Amino acid sequence: MKDNKYVYNNLKIFIMEDYEAMSEKAASMVAAQMTLKNDSVLGLATGSTPEGMYRRLVQRYQQHQIDFHEIISFNLDEYYPILPENKESYAYYMEKNLFQFVNIARQNIHIPSGSHQNIDETCKAYDQAIAKAGNIDLQILGIGNNGHIGFNEPDIKFEAGTHLVELDEATILANSRFFESVEDVPKKAISMGIRNIMHSKKIVLMASGIAKAAVLKEMITGPVTPNLPASILQLHNDVTIILDEDAAKEIKAIL
Ligand code: PGA
Repeated sequence: MKDNKYVYNNLKIFIMEDYEAMSEKAASMVAAQMTLKNDSVLGLATGSTPEGMYRRLVQRYQQHQIDFHEIISFNLDEYYPILPENKESYAYYMEKNLFQFVNIARQNIHIPSGSHQNIDETCKAYDQAIAKAGNIDLQILGIGNNGHIGFNEPDIKFEAGTHLVELDEATILANSRFFESVEDVPKKAISMGIRNIMHSKKIVLMASGIAKAAVLKEMITGPVTPNLPASILQLHNDVTIILDEDAAKEIKAIL
């Protein structure tokens, strides 16, 4: 399988043949992290992009290659307000795609609460729990068409920790494919901040499909700016970006 590696603006970039190869590469990085440190703190992402990676992690678990029993997880974000039993919640997504299949300890799973009344308390407790765990060892990220990571929308404050976010129109529209109608998409979310993400020891960002090609080029080669939150990753010292050929369409000529 083709596996092209580049470095640009301090970012390691792998361009893989297709979605499946991208997913395999990401799964192998997570598996390596888990093997090297049994009690790794994993930062987890939702959305369509990481589904193939989760499928592969479940397979590896079933084949006894990896073990989740000491793993600690923190998800990036959750809609607000939403109940965990709502099929569009990220709590539900994580059960469906990973947690129900593996031996992760329930008390080690962290997802921002989409239903707790006191938002400030929820955010503060989340930041404290991440700090208490010793920060995230490996953070998985997707990227929005508008350059968001987690739900850190354009014009974010880079110094923010976990906080309540007003979702961008572009994000609401992009995510409406998971809901019956665009009106059903929650307008707010609780998200880890850029500060939490930047404190992660390693970061793996995945992207697939032509719709992401333009934003990736801008993120990798453009200025570091709050208008494109993912651009901050140029300032982190251990970021791996795993793309499929379509997502790499615009960047490839430059590398
Ligand atoms: P997607 O979402 O994986 O569904 O494209 C990525 C994101 O919005 O971060």
